[in-house]
Amino acid sequence: MSIKDNIDPTRLPQHIAVIMDGNGRWAKGLGKLRVFGHKNGVSAVREVLEGAIEIGIPYLTLYAFSSENWNRPKLEVRALMELLISSLTKELKTFQKNGVRLNAIGNLSDLPQNIQKTLTETIEATRNNSKCTLTLALSYGSRVEIIDATKKIAAQLAQGTITAEDITESLFSQHLYTADLPDPDLMIRTSGEQRISNYLLWQMAYTELWFSPKMWPEFNRNDLYEA
Ligand code: FPP
Repeated sequence: MSIKDNIDPTRLPQHIAVIMDGNGRWAKGLGKLRVFGHKNGVSAVREVLEGAIEIGIPYLTLYAFSSENWNRPKLEVRALMELLISSLTKELKTFQKNGVRLNAIGNLSDLPQNIQKTLTETIEATRNNSKCTLTLALSYGSRVEIIDATKKIAAQLAQGTITAEDITESLFSQHLYTADLPDPDLMIRTSGEQRISNYLLWQMAYTELWFSPKMWPEFNRNDLYEA
């Protein structure tokens, strides 16, 4: 019996959030450059997305680029952006075939123009797909997201369109980047690090956490099923 056969389909998570960690260390272990790790990280993204679709996970959210990642060497940032654009362009066909709807959260206006354009086009092209919503967190930081939501609510308060009593958990959630997504019920982080790293702090109030010792490029669909 495979791990997959042991999964109870009635108890599947609806939303899995992932921190893909360990690309750099994996590459270093092989005597290669960090960028080699990111390239192989894309194969793991494909593997996990296919695995999630295979068992019927409707929402998958990947931490692809944090707001802190801008502090990495320029060359690495550029390589990550190029990987993102080439992956989106290459995967559009498979997104359509597999019913994947692309979504993005984060401070997207920080991204280079060509990335914003490709993202918008891919999101638009896949908007009617309904099997799995793949959300990429890009230039994302949870504290900034919470502050952004607070500012939007404060503006409404100042205009008098809402009162202080209207500010509930539900109203607050509706002002986050994730307004259209259910809260994650499972968060997976690879590479043995056991931290949240400013990822979906509000949304993960009740989320179960799963830490895998594997580096992200080694993570495969069976590891997903095990989680
Ligand atoms: C963490 O490893 C990983 C990242 C910062 C980037 C993850 C991005 C990808 C896998 C490519 C994105 C592409 C798509 C299509 C979503 P690390 O560099 O922090 O590893 P380390 O902790 O070993 O240094």
